[in-house]
Amino acid sequence: MESALTARDRVGVQDFVLLENYTSEVAFIENLRKRFKENLIYTYIGSVLVSMNPYKDLEIYTKQHMERYRGVNFYEVSPHIYAVADNAYRSMRTERRDQCILISGESGAGKTEASKKVLQYYAITCPASEHVQTVKDRLLQSNPVLEAFGNAKTLRNDNSSRFGKYMDIQFDFKGAPVGGHIINYLLEKSRVVHQSHGERNFHIFYQLIEGGEEDLLRRLGLEKNPQQYQYLVKGNCPKVSSINDRNDWKIVRKALSIIGFTDDEVEELLNIIASVLHLGNVQYGGEDSGSAYITTETQIKYLARLLGVDGTVLKEALTHKKIIAKGEELMSPLNQEQAASARDALSKAIYGRTFTWLVNKINDSLAFKDDSFNSKNASVIGLLDIYGFEVFQNNSFEQFCINYCNEKLQQLFIELTLKSEQEEYEAEGITWEPVQYFNNKIICDLVEEKFKGIISILDEECLRPGDASDITFLEKLEDTVGGFLDKNNDLLFRNLKEAMCMSENKILTQCFDREELTDKKRPETAATQFKNSLAKLMEILMSKEPSYVRCIKPNDAKQAGRFDEVLIRHQVKYLGLMENLRVRRAGFAYRRRYETFLQRYKSLCPDTWPNWDGRLVDGVSTLVKHLGYKPEEYKLGRTKIFIRFPKTLFATEDALEVRKHSLATQLQSSWKGYSQKTKYRKMRQSAIKIQAWWRGILACRKAKRRREAANTIRRFIKGFIYRHQPRCPENEYFLDYVRYSFLMKLHRSLPKTVLDKSWPTPPPALVEASEQLRKLCMQNMVWKYCKNINPEWKHQLEQKMVASEIFKDKKDNYPQSVPKLFVDTRLNGEDINPKLQQALGNEKMKYAVPVTKYDRNGYKARNRQLLLMANSAIIVEEGKLKQCIDYSSLKGISVSSLSDGMFVLHVTCEDNKQKGDVVLQCEHVIETLTKVAICADKMNSININQGSIKFNVAQGKEGIIDFTSGSELLIAKAKNGHLSVVSIAPRNNNLYVHFPALLSLSSLFGKC
Ligand SMILES: Nc1ncnc2c1ncn2[C@@H]1O[C@H](COP(=O)(O)OP(=O)(O)OP(=O)(O)O)[C@@H](O)[C@H]1O
Ligand SMILES: [Mg+2]
Repeated sequence: MESALTARDRVGVQDFVLLENYTSEVAFIENLRKRFKENLIYTYIGSVLVSMNPYKDLEIYTKQHMERYRGVNFYEVSPHIYAVADNAYRSMRTERRDQCILISGESGAGKTEASKKVLQYYAITCPASEHVQTVKDRLLQSNPVLEAFGNAKTLRNDNSSRFGKYMDIQFDFKGAPVGGHIINYLLEKSRVVHQSHGERNFHIFYQLIEGGEEDLLRRLGLEKNPQQYQYLVKGNCPKVSSINDRNDWKIVRKALSIIGFTDDEVEELLNIIASVLHLGNVQYGGEDSGSAYITTETQIKYLARLLGVDGTVLKEALTHKKIIAKGEELMSPLNQEQAASARDALSKAIYGRTFTWLVNKINDSLAFKDDSFNSKNASVIGLLDIYGFEVFQNNSFEQFCINYCNEKLQQLFIELTLKSEQEEYEAEGITWEPVQYFNNKIICDLVEEKFKGIISILDEECLRPGDASDITFLEKLEDTVGGFLDKNNDLLFRNLKEAMCMSENKILTQCFDREELTDKKRPETAATQFKNSLAKLMEILMSKEPSYVRCIKPNDAKQAGRFDEVLIRHQVKYLGLMENLRVRRAGFAYRRRYETFLQRYKSLCPDTWPNWDGRLVDGVSTLVKHLGYKPEEYKLGRTKIFIRFPKTLFATEDALEVRKHSLATQLQSSWKGYSQKTKYRKMRQSAIKIQAWWRGILACRKAKRRREAANTIRRFIKGFIYRHQPRCPENEYFLDYVRYSFLMKLHRSLPKTVLDKSWPTPPPALVEASEQLRKLCMQNMVWKYCKNINPEWKHQLEQKMVASEIFKDKKDNYPQSVPKLFVDTRLNGEDINPKLQQALGNEKMKYAVPVTKYDRNGYKARNRQLLLMANSAIIVEEGKLKQCIDYSSLKGISVSSLSDGMFVLHVTCEDNKQKGDVVLQCEHVIETLTKVAICADKMNSININQGSIKFNVAQGKEGIIDFTSGSELLIAKAKNGHLSVVSIAPRNNNLYVHFPALLSLSSLFGKC
């Protein structure tokens, strides 16, 4: 109606209140028909749900459907039994008021199905814990068990409830179902022994026979054929196409164990069910005297075993009646007819009491057992599924009770619905003219009134001494009343009761209480008991807030899709649906609380959209004026607006439908904006959080570093102050640091070569260690250097070292010679005359160099070659050996300190071959003299002279060479007869600087 319902949902009206022609029964039924055709089985009259039995499975009871109705406003979704269940549940939760859902309608109209749907809805949608799950399971499983024992196939319904059932579901403060309680009303016991044609006994008998395992049936003495049992053949209908007894048996067995029946209990229960069947098969014969005797011994044997009683006692009890006359007990034999009815009475009593026991047992298992939970605090939803109206040609005592019960419920409906509707107008301050309706109170009074009512008369007849019978009762009532008196008395002979009291079957011992035997008080009649229990039921229902489900049966043939108008009109009439509608509509077709109305339609008026800040009533008034409602179309109550005509509401709905599209666009865009903004905000907040967190971490790290730095500085300063003291806690850090930093510095700046003499200055504490390290380092470098040196280079260096020792700082042209490598020889083989080479033979020449020889007398310069041999130095002119000087006769060698190439070889005079000392000049004086010194082993015999050199010219004659420096080399005989040598002062000493390595290394070799 008010929400986005599908077109199909809109077939007809889904609330009869909106019917334009609301007084017309035809229109009412037409609306039912239209909807029924579309499988829309539910329609409201205000808050009352009218439900048509579809006689087929509709896909409207799925979990998704349950979710659709959960927590949603009654009017927001299409009518459904779930909406009623949810509404009751929410009212219970929000208003904390106990609720009840009253389901009424005639037999086969769908009451039991509706009650099961409600239960399933709660089981699935209510919150659950582990314990609650067990309760839910038990609540659900109580249905198949009670249906097996209390339902039967009748002409009207294949699964007709033959007992009344009121079930309380208890909810805790969280709204979870935590327990339950069932009250049962008047089971139709007569069905145990007799069924009309086309009807069956209670389902359990057929289920046991069809489904029971062979072993079990053998134990129970049963055959797998219902035709064998007298109690099952009367209706001549053992099989029903819509019922699968074998399957149902499995369901019942499983349900029994879920509810908490032990295997023993199940066994004893089945013993009783089987014994009822055996009882039915007990046959009597008649003696001549008329007394009955039992002809079927085997049945007695089975019965004795199954019921746990003595066979003889049972046999006697089934054929005799105990009479107490003048204080004496007498056993009076029964005739065949009496015995048969005693047997049936026993069967009914056993079955009836066992059914009550079963209900109690289920109640035990449903009871909430947690001590911390006070069941008084529980909120309750009651569910009433009572047997429906039944009208037959001949109505038995049971039908009388059933229909009486339905009249009472109708009475309650009138009280609560028709009256309360009218009271609402009063409460809202709406002027109102009361609507007339048929009040069925007179019918209820007819049945239950004291003294005058049918029940009173019936009881009176039963108590009356003498031969009271249905006939006498009928005389008083003027109607057909077959079996009323007996059923009302519900008598079971005393000796049968006694026999049952002795039973060893644990269920029967609970069912037949020995106290009953001693209780002298006359038991209440069945009708009075029923009347009283109904009165109690009414009290229970009155204390709760009711919701109504009115079930309608579409046809008597149990067929889907068949709409029997006559039958339906009849039900509409006696259920008072038209009156219900009239009352609802007489005043106003539609009412809604101000907040709900405003909330729904506020978008249709600029003043109320998007929000109305003032009083609700003013808001609604502004809204309806804007919508153009005429004054006669509506009324404003205290809390609700009342709209008289459905078309007014429809017009408003249509306007809303149009408005929704533009609203949807607006909503979409604002939602998109909102969701993006939310997303952005979330991202921003996240970013800020991360930033803050990261900054925090950085700040912590920085603070930590600062703290550590401050500590270090502090320790450092302290250490610095105490640095001269012996090691102590105050200075140890500083000292360690200084050492450490020195060592690290050293590590970074170790000298790379042996010539690098740099070395960091150590702190006082490390002077000694530093020195050691320095030495180690040097040794290491030297060792490495030496390891990598090759033999030629070593030879070269050795010679250079000798040269250094001789000439360093003594002769001016020494530095110039340093960078020039010494060569092995200055003259190769081809430079030396072959003749001479021949003359020298194999003697190895160590060095040869061209020299200039100055004569001793005239100092004439002549080109010669100086050859150094193993033992002598030889002066050669072309191929001629001019002079051979044995090294042994070489006294010494003289050179000047200047940069000339002059040198004098001093030889001993004794050697007459010698012609005196030899004056030579050579380009490579340093190299040549070094070679000579090495070959002749005369390193210490080289004299470096300043100014002049004296030498022996011949025996006893001396010559002198004077050395001076000049700008030009000049060697000539001076006037004083001396040889004058002017040597050029060395211009560039830098060479020396360029090759210090060579010099230093040469000095090193001596140390390695
Ligand atoms: N909502 C439904 N959907 C499908 N089938 C249904 C529905 N309600 C009832 N029926 C059918 O109708 C049959 C009779 O329904 P149900 O047993 O609920 O009737 P009842 O009103 O309880 O009758 P009684 O008064 O005899 O107990 C069900 O067995 C089922 O086949
Ligand atoms: Mg039922």
